[in-house]
Amino acid sequence: MTEVATPPRFSGKVFIGVSVDGFIARPDGDLDWLIRADPGDTGYEAFMAGIDTLVMGRGTYEKALTFGYWPYEGRRTMVLSSRLSPDADPRITVHRDLEALLRALAEAGARRVYVDGGKVVQTFLRAGLVDELTVTTAPILLGSGMPLFGPLESDIELTHRATKVLGAGYVQSVYDVAHAG
Ligand SMILES: NC(=O)c1ccc[n+]([C@@H]2O[C@H](COP(=O)([O-])OP(=O)(O)OC[C@H]3O[C@@H](n4cnc5c(N)ncnc54)[C@H](OP(=O)(O)O)[C@@H]3O)[C@@H](O)[C@H]2O)c1
Repeated sequence: MTEVATPPRFSGKVFIGVSVDGFIARPDGDLDWLIRADPGDTGYEAFMAGIDTLVMGRGTYEKALTFGYWPYEGRRTMVLSSRLSPDADPRITVHRDLEALLRALAEAGARRVYVDGGKVVQTFLRAGLVDELTVTTAPILLGSGMPLFGPLESDIELTHRATKVLGAGYVQSVYDVAHAG
């Protein structure tokens, strides 16, 4: 019998900032609350150095367009969107659904994937495609906004790896995600 080789799956990594009440942005997408104090070195540069591909939702992509510079220069960047035109931006590739995106990741040989954006993080978590979560919590309650986490079909067990107290009252925890089976 011929064995069909399955390509090794990428490792999905989340690196995200959140309010104490679990929001990644205000309802209008505003991030002022996250960036107004200086937490010092969050390890973002070191994290990015280990990433070969970014995956994000249209919401996060469109927010990045407002920064005045392209924050993912030189990085393979894939955007999930049912609405963006496939040739919207030469710096990204657009994928209509998770299946198409996973095909593109496999074709590109992606190994270490930064999974970003509220809905996309939830989609990847539900699909068992996140291996590592780095959550930096800002000392603030927003009351409303875009949530980091959402409903799950069943619990996802996390293994705590480390917690650091950063500057300005920010706290950063790293978890490994357990996968069923
Ligand atoms: N605090 C932080 O560290 C942090 C990090 C990243 C982002 N953010 C903020 O979060 C906000 C964006 O979050 P968001 O909740 O809008 O999530 P998002 O995941 O960035 O974008 C959501 C959009 O992505 C597309 N999408 C997501 N899942 C999909 C799927 N399975 N199949 C097809 N398309 C899919 C849809 O676009 P279509 O409607 O085009 O189909 C959806 O409306 C921005 O304000 C951003 O600045 C904060």
